[in-house]
Amino acid sequence: MSVLQSETVSAEPAVVISGVTRSFGQQRIIDDVSLTIPRGELFGLLGPSGSGKTTLVKLMTGIDKADKGSVSMLGVPLPKLEMLHRFGYMAQSDALYMELSGRQNMMFFGKLYGLNRQSLRQRIDETAALVDLSEHLHKPVTAFSGGMKRRLSLAIALLHQPEVLVLDEPTVGIDPVLRKSVWKELKILAKNGTTVIVTTHVMDEAEKCDRLGLIRDGHLIAVDSPASIIASTGCGSIEEAFIALSQQQRFGGQHDES
Ligand SMILES: Nc1ncnc2c1ncn2[C@@H]1O[C@H](COP(=O)(O)OP(=O)(O)OP(=O)(O)O)[C@@H](O)[C@H]1O
Ligand SMILES: [Mg+2]
Repeated sequence: MSVLQSETVSAEPAVVISGVTRSFGQQRIIDDVSLTIPRGELFGLLGPSGSGKTTLVKLMTGIDKADKGSVSMLGVPLPKLEMLHRFGYMAQSDALYMELSGRQNMMFFGKLYGLNRQSLRQRIDETAALVDLSEHLHKPVTAFSGGMKRRLSLAIALLHQPEVLVLDEPTVGIDPVLRKSVWKELKILAKNGTTVIVTTHVMDEAEKCDRLGLIRDGHLIAVDSPASIIASTGCGSIEEAFIALSQQQRFGGQHDES
């Protein structure tokens, strides 16, 4: 690859979504959404239950396919199987092997991501410590609590140090102290160049993001920094801003980045 080509490639945003629509049956769940997420951003997708967050992050990763519009990650049009090595995805419902131990689960996924034995061992130690699971890795996952399973899923998503990390409600069931350290780590990852995309409906988490996408009924009603969203609505908090923007959307239309 020439220097020029490599510069062009590295300048590609982490995610570009253009005019994406996804329906299930008669119901339009994601409605003509366009969004660009630059590399190294900590981007939050905030919206109430059923607003389309999980559907949108699945489209962003190529796990699901849009009916209309296009999605690319790191300049590569999706879906593309080879991209699985370049992003980490933590699903909303834990996808773990219940009969295997925590460590065996990490070994399995680490090998799937192509990590060699030595770096896998090192990354298991590092990520298990980060989510405070080091003492429990020998136990079968059936013996894990809900929060422990979440933490194991998060450690697995972090294993291969992907360029893009997509986390669907990563801190549900995680206690406040650990939640704080997980967010600290997400901030460090983003600062070091990883693009981190997180869904949440927790307002104090939303405020920690560089930029937020507010989603309601499959529409992006705002995309901006938390401070700018609050300032643009004249409200005192993201929560109030969300309500104000939801009401505007009923009469106006959706935010459009294109
Ligand atoms: N595979 C599917 N088949 C039919 N309907 C679906 C499917 N997946 C999602 N939906 C519907 O799409 C809507 C949005 O679901 P989605 O899971 O994206 O919401 P969400 O914002 O992630 O909600 P939550 O905060 O509860 O996780 C819901 O009405 C849901 O029932
Ligand atoms: Mg969801």
